[in-house]
Amino acid sequence: MNKVLLYCRQGFEKECAAEITAKAAQREVFGFARVKDDSGYVLFECYQAEEAEKLIAELPFSELIFARQMIVVGELLRDLPPEDRVTPVTGMLTGFVEKGGELRVEVPDTNESKELLKFCRKFTVPLRSSLRAAGILLKYETDRRPVVHVFFIAPGCCYVGYSMPKNNSPLFMGIQRLKFPSDAPSRSTLKLEEAFHAFIPADEWDERLGSGLFAVDLGACPGGWTYQLVKRSMMVHAVDNGPMAPSLMDTGQVFHHREDGFKYRPTRSNIYWVVCDMVEKPVRVANLMADWVVNGWCREAIFNLKLPMKKRYEEVSQNLAMIDEKLKANGINAQIQARQLYHDREEVTVHIRRIWAAEPGRRDEK
Ligand SMILES: C[S@@+](CC[C@H](N)C(=O)[O-])C[C@H]1O[C@@H](n2cnc3c(N)ncnc32)[C@H](O)[C@@H]1O
Repeated sequence: MNKVLLYCRQGFEKECAAEITAKAAQREVFGFARVKDDSGYVLFECYQAEEAEKLIAELPFSELIFARQMIVVGELLRDLPPEDRVTPVTGMLTGFVEKGGELRVEVPDTNESKELLKFCRKFTVPLRSSLRAAGILLKYETDRRPVVHVFFIAPGCCYVGYSMPKNNSPLFMGIQRLKFPSDAPSRSTLKLEEAFHAFIPADEWDERLGSGLFAVDLGACPGGWTYQLVKRSMMVHAVDNGPMAPSLMDTGQVFHHREDGFKYRPTRSNIYWVVCDMVEKPVRVANLMADWVVNGWCREAIFNLKLPMKKRYEEVSQNLAMIDEKLKANGINAQIQARQLYHDREEVTVHIRRIWAAEPGRRDEK
């Protein structure tokens, strides 16, 4: 088993491949990525067979921007007989993984795979029974054991493998499904909601996304992101020259500033969140957000970097490195995370959390 399979957004295979190649090399794991355009996945083959398992155990999944899931797999199983696909899949997994905590039968996130997904749902039930009988799966579900994955790329053709507990996506196909709230002013609202799920642990939501916090939304109109903040009972300064949805203004929780988001400065010192969805060059947005954190104008930031057509991995990496350098140069200790979310398109979402400012004699609470 020398292959690491990564799921990604269709059309972002090259970015996913560049990222895994670079991040594996940083851990002295060398190999090459097989990329098929628009396939929705990447296969990274390690030169040393045992290193695939080492990689999925040691490379923190949360550091990957373009991968939705990271699993170790064997050779492609082809031409599975329609009358019995369970036996060969069970056979392939035997000796490869034991006492798995969950089974997921998945497909790449592409239009072409939609039909196949219907088959996967039906196939899961008999396969689960067989894997339980063979000891490949435990009799009960648990997130403390590896997840067994069967990944169909075509009818009768799949990879099988596993992901590591707590170092994988806990989500089926690595996708956060969210229901669009019918009273939200724009579909963009789902991007910020997904970002909260991706970056803020559920048991910290009350404290970090709780009522009474103050937030600034740069490039707020018509208000999909502001909606998420208002829904959590925050007070929001919405900055944009465009019109905000009247339903949000009516809540009394929104102050609308018709100003340039790059020039706007907060008028109060207790802003907890800044969020930013302005369509602008990534380097401008990254610099602005770093300034907000360095100047102590907010405690946490979530923003999108809209990606150019080419060299998208490089663009993201350079901007994240620039933010990191700027924060460090100013003595700011912060956590930076970035991910291409399911609801993101040609963009990635970044989260910065300022932890404390290393000024002599001063330490931020929380
Ligand atoms: C993608 S939309 C934001 C959508 C919003 N997040 C939502 O969920 O409804 C981008 C917004 O950024 C605003 N914008 C772009 N450049 C800006 C700037 N320099 N200052 C303020 N707003 C800006 C645009 O007017 C536009 O309303």
